[in-house]
Amino acid sequence: MKNRAASEPYTFVVMGGTSDLMRRKILPALSILRGRGTLHPDTIIVGTGRRRFENGEYREWIRHAALEARAKSNDFDQWCERCVHYHSIGAGLPAYKELHDALFDLERRYKHPGNRVLYLATPPGAFKPSISNLGEAGLNHCSGWTRLVVEKPFGHDLTSARELDALIHRWFDEPQVYRIDHFLGKTTVQNLLIFRFANSVFESQWNRNSIDNVQITVSEADGVGGRAGYYDQAGALRDMVQNHLTQLMTLVAMEAPVQFEANAIRDEKVKVLRSIRPITADGVVYGQYTGGNLGGTEVNAYRDETNVEPDSQTETFVALKAFVDNWRWQGVPFYLRTGKRLPQKLTQIVISFRQPPVCFFRRFEDCTMQQNQLVIQLQPDEGFDLRFDVKAPETPLSLRRQSLRFRYEEAFGELPEAYKTLLVDIVNGDQTLFVRTDEVEQSWKLYTPLLENRGGVAPYHPGTWGPVKADRLLESGRVWRTT
Ligand code: BG6
Repeated sequence: MKNRAASEPYTFVVMGGTSDLMRRKILPALSILRGRGTLHPDTIIVGTGRRRFENGEYREWIRHAALEARAKSNDFDQWCERCVHYHSIGAGLPAYKELHDALFDLERRYKHPGNRVLYLATPPGAFKPSISNLGEAGLNHCSGWTRLVVEKPFGHDLTSARELDALIHRWFDEPQVYRIDHFLGKTTVQNLLIFRFANSVFESQWNRNSIDNVQITVSEADGVGGRAGYYDQAGALRDMVQNHLTQLMTLVAMEAPVQFEANAIRDEKVKVLRSIRPITADGVVYGQYTGGNLGGTEVNAYRDETNVEPDSQTETFVALKAFVDNWRWQGVPFYLRTGKRLPQKLTQIVISFRQPPVCFFRRFEDCTMQQNQLVIQLQPDEGFDLRFDVKAPETPLSLRRQSLRFRYEEAFGELPEAYKTLLVDIVNGDQTLFVRTDEVEQSWKLYTPLLENRGGVAPYHPGTWGPVKADRLLESGRVWRTT
């Protein structure tokens, strides 16, 4: 069913209809999908929010946002006039009952069967009251299907994640719930499954007998920017590791599912999460960026960013070592690291294979062997490189590192934005790329003890790869790959 328009019309309700998420991600994706004919032509978009907008004012806001995002399709204005609506909503239950009636009226007017997406694009603090009110007002079901979309963060530790899920399940069944970790919508992340399970050449080597270690890096050159208010409460472990990096790790480590189907895939991911050995405090390094000169520009220290406490201990960098205690991965370290104000934006998985058992070439000068590496580049410059040694033509004998290289852009052109993929899957009812409740719980089980006993943050200069201590996590001569 992927990438086809759902066969019946639906109403796409965005709680937080003027949020940053709506402006930067949801609206551009909706508009492009609409332009391509992927959305059902009779889709109704209903933005809700505290602002007191008339429909006309909201449509103006939408037009402006689409223009800014360069996401206007040919008949955008006409579509906007016909399909986009706004409903001002206060905090209490009566406002949600009004929303219930307003949606019912709209759907009757448009002769819709009553299928709804309820997208929570509000700040995380508003999730719980919104979900309660949606449920109490009877918006958890309608005459067709109802799907609830929740963005990460799903709680801020194990207890809060459980509370959030208990509330969600009080009103919605799990098949109605679409938890977004937007990394799963990236084509290159989805490709991890295809790469592994459609190509026997890699899968036959994908285990402790052949693989020495796995590195997952998600680095960003930017600082926290305008999000410091949220970030100072979260930190890199909650913001990136508990979700994005852990999801990548499960896709690398999982067994083949019995079917290419949402629950079968998520079952295997949960098994990986359950097999991860508790991470010890000495296996984690926390860092925080200082100020300094970055490419000729002076940048603020994290503690000098607006809305950050001057003595904040929030980490903007984390590196850790994890082990998956199962038959496939026993003894293979998985090194994860992420941070802000690092040298470049890079999301990369590096699989380093074991060296051959004997070095035949020792008697030749300059003859060293290196590990074969599979470098899966998730962004930017999406693709992969397989690195191996060849004999250089000259004498005396020497080995040179060469790569087999694949780049998505060269093969297929520009890749779709994650949100386009995710929105299509929501309306088509495909949960494969969404996080299931037990994945969230297992992941928090892993990281909550670390959050409760968090060590101090080591400072690092902007434009470096984090505190030097992070290098010491890698033992036996291993080094972080940085290109
Ligand atoms: C978000 C984090 O989930 O992912 C941000 O909250 C981070 O802090 C962002 O910058 C990175 O996403 P992407 O798609 O730009 O790699």
